[in-house]
Amino acid sequence: MALQSYTAQDLYELITKKNADFLLLDVRNASEFARFQIEGPRTFDMTNVPYMEFVEFEDQSVAKVPTGKPVHIVCAKEGSAKCVGEILDQAKSFGDVRYLEGGIKTWGNMLVPIRVSDLAGDKEYELYQFLRPGKASCSYGLVYKGEMMLFDPSRNVDFYTAFAREKGVKMVRTFETHLQADYIAGSHHIAQTSGATFTAPPDDFKDAVFQYSASVDGDTFACGGGPEVKVIHTPGHTPGSTCYFIDDSFLITGDTVFVQSVGRPDLGGQAEAWAQLLYATLQERIAPLPGAVVALPGHFADWGEASADSYVVAATMGEIREHNKDIYNIAREADFIQFIKENMREQPPEYAVIRQVNAGLVEKNEDEQEILDLGKNECAASTGK
Ligand SMILES: [Fe+2]
Repeated sequence: MALQSYTAQDLYELITKKNADFLLLDVRNASEFARFQIEGPRTFDMTNVPYMEFVEFEDQSVAKVPTGKPVHIVCAKEGSAKCVGEILDQAKSFGDVRYLEGGIKTWGNMLVPIRVSDLAGDKEYELYQFLRPGKASCSYGLVYKGEMMLFDPSRNVDFYTAFAREKGVKMVRTFETHLQADYIAGSHHIAQTSGATFTAPPDDFKDAVFQYSASVDGDTFACGGGPEVKVIHTPGHTPGSTCYFIDDSFLITGDTVFVQSVGRPDLGGQAEAWAQLLYATLQERIAPLPGAVVALPGHFADWGEASADSYVVAATMGEIREHNKDIYNIAREADFIQFIKENMREQPPEYAVIRQVNAGLVEKNEDEQEILDLGKNECAASTGK
């Protein structure tokens, strides 16, 4: 069987399918493999045999790859996976062998649109979660009467542009919940290319070098003259962290509220001060929200936070408060600070650079952005494990 290719979308379908039997052969070097791996909601066979080993010790390397099931090869850019594919294809003992088009970065950047507006009953508007499996993060799009508002878009600007075109809508506003540290935000670029208004919390963006419109607690916006988007300032993860409350039904929480845990307040080097802010936010702004409100977070730490059928990452505030009782029921600020300190862990070194890129303070070319942006997020206060 001749060597074939597959796309990141094909891979997503495969790893979300029940009983998919295949081997994912990652041929990046061991350190790249250790830093970031392909993950999915279902377990699958994966092995790492670096490309250089195939070059130097071909027979031994081929012998390390189990036969008997389709082999999907992934590498950094595409070329080495294709080379290894040709080697396996010539070895004849493998049937279906494929390489990932565009390499692992296409997986890292891929977005899967999932309609979530139905989670709160019949709505006239459409709300989409754009799931980014390679980063374990989510952005959102609110669509109504020819307009689309975006929330925390990633740098995959082409995806959002194509989505808007397909829906026949204009991107009018792109909101940031906070100054992101773990991925390069797309709002600035989208605003430049589409004319959408970049809207973000001033406490986080006061040093930004570009123009933006400030989202201030209590402000409201209407998408297509329809559903209201209310600004709720929820400091803690960062001083500017903000939730956007859509139609009193959906809360875009950024990195403040997750299905499991809450956003880390220690990423800015002021763990205690920001933990105090977060404690007040949870007590005064999040805890009083009606239990039926659907929270739509910016991240997930684990696929267990996604629904078992459609893989949407969402839960009602009632469910979240129940599942995270150990956090929401902490009765004293001092105990909350203690909880944060006990769960603190190193943050990836690239986070400091990503913040600067997101505020326009540092320019990085496409390749540099690609490298900075790859890898899973580290945003939750506790991994829940
Ligand atoms: Fe964050």
